[in-house]
Amino acid sequence: MQVISLNKIQPRWWKEVVVYQLYPRSFKDSNGDGIGDLNGIIEKLDYIKSLGIDVVWLNPVYESPNDDMGYDISDYRAIMKQFGTMDDFDRLLEGLHERGIKLIMDLVVNHTSDEHPWFRESKKSRDNPFRHYYHWWDAEKGLPPYRWSIFDKENNAWKYDPGTNSYYFHIFSEKQPDLNWENPAVRKEVYDMMKFWMDKGVDGFRMDVITCISKDTRFPELPADMPLSQWFPYYAKGPHLHTYLQEMHQEVFSKYDSMNVGEASGISIDDALLFTDEDRNELQTFYHFDHTGFGISKDNFMYADDSNRDLPSWKKIFDKWDKVFQEKGWATIYLGNHDMSRMTSRFGSDHPAFRDYSAKMLHTFLLSMRGTPYIYNGDEIGMTNSNHLNIEAYQDVYTINYYQQLKERGQDYKGFLESHAHISRDNGRTPMQWDDSAFAGFSNTTPWLSVNENYRQINIAKQEQDPDSVLHYFRKMIGLRKAHLALVYGRFDLVDEDNPQLFAYTRMLGDESYLVVLNFSDRTAILDADVDTERSQILIGNYNTNHLNHSYRPYEAVIYKL
Ligand code: GLC
Ligand code: CA
Repeated sequence: MQVISLNKIQPRWWKEVVVYQLYPRSFKDSNGDGIGDLNGIIEKLDYIKSLGIDVVWLNPVYESPNDDMGYDISDYRAIMKQFGTMDDFDRLLEGLHERGIKLIMDLVVNHTSDEHPWFRESKKSRDNPFRHYYHWWDAEKGLPPYRWSIFDKENNAWKYDPGTNSYYFHIFSEKQPDLNWENPAVRKEVYDMMKFWMDKGVDGFRMDVITCISKDTRFPELPADMPLSQWFPYYAKGPHLHTYLQEMHQEVFSKYDSMNVGEASGISIDDALLFTDEDRNELQTFYHFDHTGFGISKDNFMYADDSNRDLPSWKKIFDKWDKVFQEKGWATIYLGNHDMSRMTSRFGSDHPAFRDYSAKMLHTFLLSMRGTPYIYNGDEIGMTNSNHLNIEAYQDVYTINYYQQLKERGQDYKGFLESHAHISRDNGRTPMQWDDSAFAGFSNTTPWLSVNENYRQINIAKQEQDPDSVLHYFRKMIGLRKAHLALVYGRFDLVDEDNPQLFAYTRMLGDESYLVVLNFSDRTAILDADVDTERSQILIGNYNTNHLNHSYRPYEAVIYKL
């Protein structure tokens, strides 16, 4: 066998896979209660297989009161009743494995639900054995130093508990108390729970807000007028983060051939390798948020800002991150997930004239970059935002509580909704659009979150029939990534990097090389590069007719073999 050098990168299976993120609540309802469930996913296993993906990341399916849609867990070893039973789960895992697909679970261990038995115990008395499973501040010490909370109605991360005259700490909603990782008993519980799932045969974890597990637990006063961007050391990346991750590796990951990806707010290019250099035995990969500010206000990430869409600086973000992982570590590439509005609306265009072109263009991007691609369910058919303007349409605690807060304070809640309509998380959580029957074939009753009105135009059944659809293009792009190792491991170099409309780059491995040209705008764009594109072989393109040399139509995507 010919040995190909992988540009000094260690080959690993988890670097070569394509991950499909599946949001169970919105995937398929099998029992007519309007909520997606495990049997619904089982019904669609052949569809999932047909995509060509290798790994499914399942958002939390554990028992939960659903204050934050499963990210508030009350039993880590049980399946949420709305989703089914452990038997259903076992059948799902088996069905995936039979089809050669791996499963990674969401690991939510920065916090539990306040209905978790550990927290119920912890609240009972100051000397309860579970007291120090959480962070408490005794009221005799005075008010705890202020901490901001992202989902709290008052933006306050401390909640007073009259029973023990103390405050408990919650970065997220008051129903999501933070676990105290300083306590070795907590860490042991977490590792045992992880082994429970790994021993069942799951193939790894996506690790929710993992950088938050270590924080400054002395809870010092924050410096006056500290900007939000500098809050990290107080909340995340605390003094023991590396120790905990190494311990978790030692106790769990080192024992299995598995895959992991951390949700890594706060990790920067400067310390990226401290987390992902394989020799350090911490994480395999993580995902950062640097590119997700596109279209979002620089001053307040709760608001949209269309003027903040500077393509050259966006390209530089990807370029910088690629350089970090040139020889060690490994990147992840994503444009959508359950915490973001729809990729097509956000990074492309949901205008009917451009919708399909831009969705295909974004898939060309996701699947030709260096790093493990994560594709969010629904994006394979180019689902778009719902853009709801009334609060009743929302289910997300984040939206509801912030809206409420603005309203109570007499602030501009209407302006917030107008802006939020473009970026809310619920935009990305609407039910999958399977066909043009009532409720888009997701359910036979009104779903927990309303179906996007465009389901008759955008749905899977329709796209299956159309060889030109986004869905077929997506499958073809996955096929190309699989067929050309250069698209996985090849060197990445920007081309015409200051071009304000085009994102162009080459991928090179051995004597194989490709040029990817993506028009991120709704106007014709001209590539300034020393290559005869008219004579180069086209590997894939999202327009059916050939284009003029160096000229690209709105949202056009082309990959050439050089
Ligand atoms: C992560 C999840 C998000 C959740 C939060 C709290 O950011 O992706 O959905 O709300 O953590 O668990
Ligand atoms: Ca159901």
